[in-house]
Amino acid sequence: MRVTVWIPRDAGALALGAEAVVRKLQAEAQAAGAQVTIRRNGSRGLYWLEPLVEVECAEGRIAYGPVSGRDVPDLVKKGFLKGAAHPLRIGPIEEHPWFASQQRLTFARVGRIDPLDLAAYRASGGFVGLARALELGPDATVNEVLESGLRGRGGAAFPTGIKWQTVLRQPPGQKYVTCNADEGDSGTYSDRMLMEGDPFALIEGMTIAGVAVGATKGYVYLRVEYPHAFRVLNAAIEVAREAGFLGSSLLDSDKAFDMEVRLGAGAYICGEETSMLESLEGRRGEIRVRPPLPAEKGLFGAPTIVNNVITLATVPTILAHGAATYREYGQAKSRGTLPLQLAGNIRRGGLVERAFGLTVRELLEDYGGGSMSGRPIRAVQIGGPLGAYLPASQFDTPLEYEALSGIGALLGHGGVVAFDDTVDMLEMARYAMEFCAHESCGKCTPCRIGSVRGAEALAAIGRGEDRERQLVLVEELCDTMLNASLCGLGGMTPFPVQSAMKHFPEDFRAKARGG
Ligand SMILES: Cc1cc2nc3c(=O)[nH]c(=O)nc-3n(C[C@H](O)[C@H](O)[C@H](O)COP(=O)(O)O)c2cc1C
Ligand code: SF4
Repeated sequence: MRVTVWIPRDAGALALGAEAVVRKLQAEAQAAGAQVTIRRNGSRGLYWLEPLVEVECAEGRIAYGPVSGRDVPDLVKKGFLKGAAHPLRIGPIEEHPWFASQQRLTFARVGRIDPLDLAAYRASGGFVGLARALELGPDATVNEVLESGLRGRGGAAFPTGIKWQTVLRQPPGQKYVTCNADEGDSGTYSDRMLMEGDPFALIEGMTIAGVAVGATKGYVYLRVEYPHAFRVLNAAIEVAREAGFLGSSLLDSDKAFDMEVRLGAGAYICGEETSMLESLEGRRGEIRVRPPLPAEKGLFGAPTIVNNVITLATVPTILAHGAATYREYGQAKSRGTLPLQLAGNIRRGGLVERAFGLTVRELLEDYGGGSMSGRPIRAVQIGGPLGAYLPASQFDTPLEYEALSGIGALLGHGGVVAFDDTVDMLEMARYAMEFCAHESCGKCTPCRIGSVRGAEALAAIGRGEDRERQLVLVEELCDTMLNASLCGLGGMTPFPVQSAMKHFPEDFRAKARGG
């Protein structure tokens, strides 16, 4: 009897040895005379269990993990091809509490299907959203997105429907849909996982956006460090085009949309939307002064949607199931679900998609299982390198936009990085300034000069030099950067610096004493 075994081709699983597992399983199956079909999927997002191998059995897909090439002979010997017991046996993965308690809407298919299997995508509801958008027409489609309450998942949390409405209202002519896949935030990987695990969802989301606003061309601006996503996306675009889901006549309608992938320039600032547009046009990634907004005058001067991967990949489910269904998830002004990414010093890192409202503590303890080192978690940074540091006293804050901004923090792209009690918060503050200095596009003085002076002042505090004066200088620099920078890089770098100073003042004093 032929057995199907799923082994992820997600970059995380590959980094942890998934290819060695494939090779070893092929060799062992041949030696044992077993008939095995190896199929490739994305990651389920339980990274501490990768490579997570799933065997199709009568009771469903039985998972084993983390599996290394060396484990394969023993697994085959003990009957894992029949789902037999083994120390690495996890059981049916969808019943695992870490997974079963999630609310996977955007990531519903990731890890379940072969990312390039169009038939599997369609069988699981794929392209139902596009068909509905074509039926509804532009105004009603934009309205649906507006009604859903979807806000941009790239960081700024701007209502997606309003952005689309602005592009729709521009005079007819060439318009563009651009997808921001630069994913530069520390500890984030949901864009990558989605593109590698369910690329058709992004293609469908971009196509719906095109149909909704009258754009016929889309570009994905992809982080250059994502070669696997590049390969999968390009292959998926080919498949979709062949099948009539991209091209001059979408689903035999009179609507056209096509897209291509462009590789990024390897700079954090190229993730800021106007820099991204500059880079897409072939220039140096530098901020454009707003107004005009990209929605009015964006790529090549035309009205342009700029949305994050997760924002766009969420649109098909909204259209397929209706705005009201999506709105039922979440709380207050944060509707729907958010794929949170747990990283740093954490035992069970991975992707947790839940409705907005889960607390930081629930995420760290129930999902993360505490720190990897076993020491108390002292701080978390949420929302990438420009996000504030939260002390343990704020861990009961719900993960939603307004609750976090209420404590001077942000949710950003949903990355949560944990640090145990050995972290030096003065060093983290200095690093934030150094990061800004390194990544600054140089266009405005508060960021270009302020970040360099800030890093110097914090280093001086670390050496115990002239502490009081340097602390005042850092505060003043933060104030200037916050209020006078042209974009979020300079404008938000004060968040990690000031939160570290506010919540962990002892680290700044200890260094001054030479501690
Ligand atoms: C310095 C900086 C870096 C950014 N990097 C990214 C990024 O890597 N990916 C992303 O989607 N948005 C990034 N953003 C946010 C974008 O400017 C923009 O708000 C977003 O792409 C809009 O899409 P959304 O509305 O779907 O979130 C960044 C913003 C700043 C200020
Ligand atoms: S804040 Fe920094 S990155 Fe942004 S425009 Fe000014 S110099 Fe460039």
